[in-house]
Amino acid sequence: MTVGVEEISDEGLGSRSNERFVEAAVGAARGLAERDPEMARWTAPLVRAIKRRRLRLPSLSPTVHRVVKLIESQEVDLDELADAVSGDPVLATRIMGVANSSYFRGATEVPNVRDALMRMGVREARTIVIVVALRATVMRSPGLGDMASVLWKHSLLAASATQEITAELPPWETAGFLAGLVHDLGKLVVLAFAAELPAWQDDGAEPGSAVVEAMMAATHAELGAMVLASWAFPEPFCEAVLLHHDASQAVGDAGSLAIAVEVGNRIASQIEQGWPEDAAELDETLVERATRLGVDPPRLSDIAMEAETNFEALSKLG
Ligand SMILES: [Fe+2]
Ligand SMILES: [Fe+2]
Repeated sequence: MTVGVEEISDEGLGSRSNERFVEAAVGAARGLAERDPEMARWTAPLVRAIKRRRLRLPSLSPTVHRVVKLIESQEVDLDELADAVSGDPVLATRIMGVANSSYFRGATEVPNVRDALMRMGVREARTIVIVVALRATVMRSPGLGDMASVLWKHSLLAASATQEITAELPPWETAGFLAGLVHDLGKLVVLAFAAELPAWQDDGAEPGSAVVEAMMAATHAELGAMVLASWAFPEPFCEAVLLHHDASQAVGDAGSLAIAVEVGNRIASQIEQGWPEDAAELDETLVERATRLGVDPPRLSDIAMEAETNFEALSKLG
């Protein structure tokens, strides 16, 4: 499948919704420089790149784009999905490989993509196709190095956790996995930009890892929302990614997706640090946000266990 980076065009960012996320990203980068003036030499070029539409964003091949669009819609038709997947020979081969792997233990080899998706079942097929399709976008992003696998694991874990949360959260029952999977996409943008930063400096200086970390922390949510908007994702997805570190002000249906993604991200982080035996030791914000969605701490622990099991299974997909 063709995955690379492309310069975003003015056309792609022309809509008002996109403009809002561009403003948010500019504001986030400027805010960092205001808090820490030494950061200005690194954030000023970032602001310029965002404003002049010179920032390199991860792009999706037309096939993967079509697949993602299908999966993001509520009802996915197996024939349509099979048709879309078959448009990308690499993706098709991978999907058939998964269906024929020990993961599904079929008696016979599946002969085509449609049978492969049938063997998986519609629900699982959605998840597997999206994982296989987006994995390359994440893993082949420039400037990522060792962080690729860390970031990918965190994304899978957050996706699994968000899926568990939204399973009983209409109208987002089928949206959680995808929203969780892409929540930290903005980190790819910062890392790709950091690799180019020396070229933007008079003295060719390279940013240290602390600088990159700070830029990532300050801007990745806004940049992630910007990427999703450029991929023409529905506004609630972009909004959820924008707010995934603090959805305290989120309201309405779109707001509940934002809270779900924040909870999914916090569950992932808590699992990575070690899930505590005593619920009293859980991250306070995690408990507060989950309570808003009607999820109490015992249920939260169950959800975390289910998410971890799901994550283990998905990591075996390679
Ligand atoms: Fe994040
Ligand atoms: Fe995250």
